[in-house]
Amino acid sequence: MNKAKPTTIVIFGASGDLTRRKLIPALFQVSLEGLLAKGTRIVGFARREKSHEQFRVEIEEALVEFTRSKPSAGSPELKVFSSSCYYQTGNYDNSKSFHDLKELLERLDKENGISSDKGNRLFYLATPPTVFSGIVGMLGQTGHIADPNDEERWTRVIIEKPFGRDLETASALNKNLSAILDERQIYRIDHYLGKETVQNIMAFRFGNSIFEPLWDRRYVSHVHITVAESVCVEGRGGYYDSSGALRDMVQNHMLQLLALIAMEPPASFAPDAVRDEKVKLLSAIPPIGASEVNECSIRGQYAAGTIDGKLIPDYLRENGVKPDSVTETFVALKLYVDNWRWAGVPFYLRTGKALAGRLTEVNIEFRQPPLALFSHMQEGEERSRMKPNMLSLRVQPNEGIRLSIGMKVPGQKMVLEPQDMEFCYQDVFDVEAPGAYERLILDAILGDTTLFIRQDEVEAAWKLVNGVIDGWASEEVPHIHLYRAGTWGPYAADEFITNDIRKSKAL
Ligand SMILES: NC(=O)c1ccc[n+]([C@@H]2O[C@H](COP(=O)([O-])OP(=O)(O)OC[C@H]3O[C@@H](n4cnc5c(N)ncnc54)[C@H](OP(=O)(O)O)[C@@H]3O)[C@@H](O)[C@H]2O)c1
Repeated sequence: MNKAKPTTIVIFGASGDLTRRKLIPALFQVSLEGLLAKGTRIVGFARREKSHEQFRVEIEEALVEFTRSKPSAGSPELKVFSSSCYYQTGNYDNSKSFHDLKELLERLDKENGISSDKGNRLFYLATPPTVFSGIVGMLGQTGHIADPNDEERWTRVIIEKPFGRDLETASALNKNLSAILDERQIYRIDHYLGKETVQNIMAFRFGNSIFEPLWDRRYVSHVHITVAESVCVEGRGGYYDSSGALRDMVQNHMLQLLALIAMEPPASFAPDAVRDEKVKLLSAIPPIGASEVNECSIRGQYAAGTIDGKLIPDYLRENGVKPDSVTETFVALKLYVDNWRWAGVPFYLRTGKALAGRLTEVNIEFRQPPLALFSHMQEGEERSRMKPNMLSLRVQPNEGIRLSIGMKVPGQKMVLEPQDMEFCYQDVFDVEAPGAYERLILDAILGDTTLFIRQDEVEAAWKLVNGVIDGWASEEVPHIHLYRAGTWGPYAADEFITNDIRKSKAL
């Protein structure tokens, strides 16, 4: 692993939820493990007034609550870490705030023995997306950005999701960023890519030789990708209502999972080799046009129900949600990949909130054997027990891999039933996996863009999702299926997928 260089990390939106729950704990954890260089500093920037000391107290409280290594309050490691944190109050449209920030950063460089204009900077945009362009514009205007070809210092900017709300706004944001930054300095984050088990998809596919020859239309019947959440909108009703499941989950996390599952093997593990293959894959998916939207998508919205004994209100009664909202809290999609490897293989994507459980899983169902050798020997229920082989890659929880294969049931008759060969991460590796933000922030400090999304990738994903958005918007009466909170989504989604699979098998 490369060694991290001393860096000043500036978090914009430092009084927010993401900073408190994820970013600060991730930075503490990597610092505890000795993965940050000596002299690394963290500067929080936000609009509300706060002293360095107040910020440090809040940081220590957040670390006790949210860090995976569970430090105790007042412990020396907390004090050491918080003493490397600073706070700057400022406004995003005020150049003086950015000049003040520059002064603070240069003072910290000086204390570290780094001459002025030689300090490395990682800017993390953890604010609402409405101010992303403005912040980068101000950074450019006030001289915070290093020349991308400067070999002595670097500037990198991590941009949080959502990256735009459609193709047009994403392209406009890309344009604004590239007016100030070189693509090598832009790190668009999708925290799903930082998850160990998502990276394991690449290890599984390209570090082994036995599955890859089966990984195509000749052997795979169809693929399911499921991202189920049991949480509701959790006080973020206003944001969620203007977004919905398609923008919030499919455009980023689910299409990234699909790209990793279906892309061609890259020529190397270099960032652009991997990202080139993902873009090629996303570009090979024909967008769903407005006229096909009913054939290829189901959208749903949760109604009152119970999850873990707790009563959940109708989505329409959540704070911040419009009472007549047609925003989807559930979506199922059918996509195809028009290339030689995957032509004709449906990929079913399904995601939703307020579902019966939290689960992220990819299921690859293989074709039936070409000859049903044993089926005439079994009847009724026995025959229905025979199932095609299924490979399941479980991203969360109980991360692992399961392969279901048909086995003979002991006895006089030739009866087959599916049995699982299973591998569970936790049982095999007795270590806690690093959190997604730990990995990704460290990668940004090390200058590794492999797990970040490139400009063309984000636009290819929006192109796909835009067709569905337009199709739904053109419906005179929105086709939205209600489902009870605490179930696995609308019945119509199961029916849509089951009927579709039945039809494609009959062909
Ligand atoms: N929270 C998560 O788990 C999560 C997960 C994935 C992605 N994200 C993304 O990360 C970013 C931050 O999320 P968050 O949950 O931390 O957001 P947040 O708590 O709503 O906001 C972060 C901070 O931004 C400032 N802010 C709020 N409204 C603003 C406005 N109109 N203009 C300028 N500043 C404003 C506030 O600080 P001041 O008022 O002090 O300036 C606030 O504390 C968002 O883009 C979000 O979509 C969050």
